Amino acid sequence: MAKAFSGIQPTGEITLGNYIGALRNWQPDPGSFYCVVDMHSLSQPWEPAELRENIRSTAALLLALGLGEGSHVFVQSHVPEHAELAWILNCLGRMGELSRMTQFKSKGRGKVDVSVGLFTYPLLMASDILLYRVEEVPVGEDQKQHVELTRDMAERFNSRFGPVFTVPAPRIAKLGARVMSLRNPLEKMSKSDPDPNSKILLSDGEDAISKKIMTAVTDSGREVAYDPKEKPGVSNLLEIASILSGESVAALAERYRDQGYGAFKRGVAEIVVAAVRPLREKVEGLLEDPAEIDRQLEQGRAAAEREAKPMLGQVKRAIGLV
Ligand code: TYM
Repeated sequence: MAKAFSGIQPTGEITLGNYIGALRNWQPDPGSFYCVVDMHSLSQPWEPAELRENIRSTAALLLALGLGEGSHVFVQSHVPEHAELAWILNCLGRMGELSRMTQFKSKGRGKVDVSVGLFTYPLLMASDILLYRVEEVPVGEDQKQHVELTRDMAERFNSRFGPVFTVPAPRIAKLGARVMSLRNPLEKMSKSDPDPNSKILLSDGEDAISKKIMTAVTDSGREVAYDPKEKPGVSNLLEIASILSGESVAALAERYRDQGYGAFKRGVAEIVVAAVRPLREKVEGLLEDPAEIDRQLEQGRAAAEREAKPMLGQVKRAIGLV
């Protein structure tokens, strides 16, 4: 299996979009590293107590998925090589290429009070990936451009200073790469959406999940059919249900075709509840044993350091710092 690296920002609001687009595709392979990217969360305003709690609950989620057993789970700020390489890449990245990042354009461009970190954040992300010599980066569609920038940085570095970095590629699933908002199926489901009904959280209970799906925006007409252009709301729900149940989109559409949106949504809600409940219960169980979380994170940190330290040493030698 190809070695992989991926990361998720710690928030208390991890969504079904994060799970379907990314977490579900993270494989517990011994050469792979999965990271709670806490330093990325400093690129936007934060509350210290909240951040501390969210780092822990996000780590618990990755451990609940079994990623601490077959692969390595760690917290970004526990491995200072990430910040150190990020500075070096800051000095090799270009204003022009960072200005083209669509995520920066949507969150920050034109505003004077956004942090410098929000602008340079893709180079911290490139550092995360390049420290681990991985071939693959499993992410949702919205992170593709950042992984492409990482490839460009690796190639530019290698051609100037010699072959130091492995050039990674994004791994994006065909179905579910962009789970859409339940309130506006033309926009992605996002942790930062202020409307709680737009997103299903992995911490949501059964009633909340059912209510959000029953009130999801659907399209005109009453036929259940997969057509992302004409029926984006229904198609989004069909994709979610297909991925979580393992049944094909075509089979689900066929079953619910003439049953109306109410029966269809009840079916989708059942599938989502059945997928989210065991995960939520596992996370809650782990959070009751903070010592076990710390033990696994320390193991992950030590494994990450074994890769990151020599890699940064190689970079420093190549560029003339050592
Ligand atoms: P973040 O924390 O915003 O999201 C984590 C992962 O979830 C995916 N995702 C989605 N996939 C499908 N549909 C959605 N609606 C949806 N919303 C989010 C994201 O694509 C991502 O894969 N910059 C990254 C974190 C990061 C990282 C890295 C990722 C930092 N360093 C190195 C990979 C490798 C971010 O903010 O993801």
